[in-house]
Amino acid sequence: MMRLAILGAGSHGRVVAESAAALGWSISFFDDVRTGSVDGHAVLGTAADLLAGQTQFDGVIAAIGDNRTRLDWILRLRTAGATITTIVDPSCRVSPSAHVGEGSFLACASIVGTGASLGVGCILNTAASVDHDCRLADAVHLSPGVRLSGNVDIGEASWLGTGSSVRNNIVIGRDVVAGVGSAVVGNIASGQTVVGVPARPLEQPN
Ligand SMILES: CC(C)(COP(=O)(O)OP(=O)(O)OC[C@H]1O[C@@H](n2cnc3c(N)ncnc32)[C@H](O)[C@@H]1OP(=O)(O)O)[C@@H](O)C(=O)NCCC(=O)NCCS
Repeated sequence: MMRLAILGAGSHGRVVAESAAALGWSISFFDDVRTGSVDGHAVLGTAADLLAGQTQFDGVIAAIGDNRTRLDWILRLRTAGATITTIVDPSCRVSPSAHVGEGSFLACASIVGTGASLGVGCILNTAASVDHDCRLADAVHLSPGVRLSGNVDIGEASWLGTGSSVRNNIVIGRDVVAGVGSAVVGNIASGQTVVGVPARPLEQPN
């Protein structure tokens, strides 16, 4: 049986483990806080332990919710020689003409359409859909039920909240946050947090 190391045994790691187990992987967790076992899978050590011992595994995936932290660990593990692995839940539909970057996780019922491209370490959460010709840079996270229309461009480490929707041909910058239920109908500059229908910048307290 192929051995997969999952960095992060929190709720996201448990979701990744369930999909990986369905694909036939034997799973071990690494986590800086949790010890013992999680959902019947042993926690073998910390992130530093995984970095030192990654050669024992056929595949490694970082299951860390924070986009920048996840990307940073993927790059560190890759530099150390780990085989960064992509997990696509068996219930997903991925177009044969789409590209899914290494270390990405596609959760239950997510969809990647014709000609779409996902960077390294992306997360498509439950039933998120990425329509034709969309381009997601590294470490983008689409929360459950996000809907991207065709030809949407999303910059590195951006996070779209549950149920948000994006009009076709929109450009979203890096490190953007779109709140739960946002309707994105215009381009969004890097670093902005937007909410609402239509999505507008969230006013920060002074
Ligand atoms: C947008 C978001 C990041 C803002 O979080 P925050 O900075 O902690 O903001 P707060 O919760 O303090 O809310 C600030 C204000 O924005 C409003 N607001 C927050 N999120 C909103 C949303 N999605 N739509 C509309 N208004 C929103 C709040 O009602 C509040 O308004 P008020 O000042 O008039 O009371 C967060 O609400 C959100 O939507 N996160 C996405 C969660 C998600 O999808 N998780 C999935 C995990 S897989």
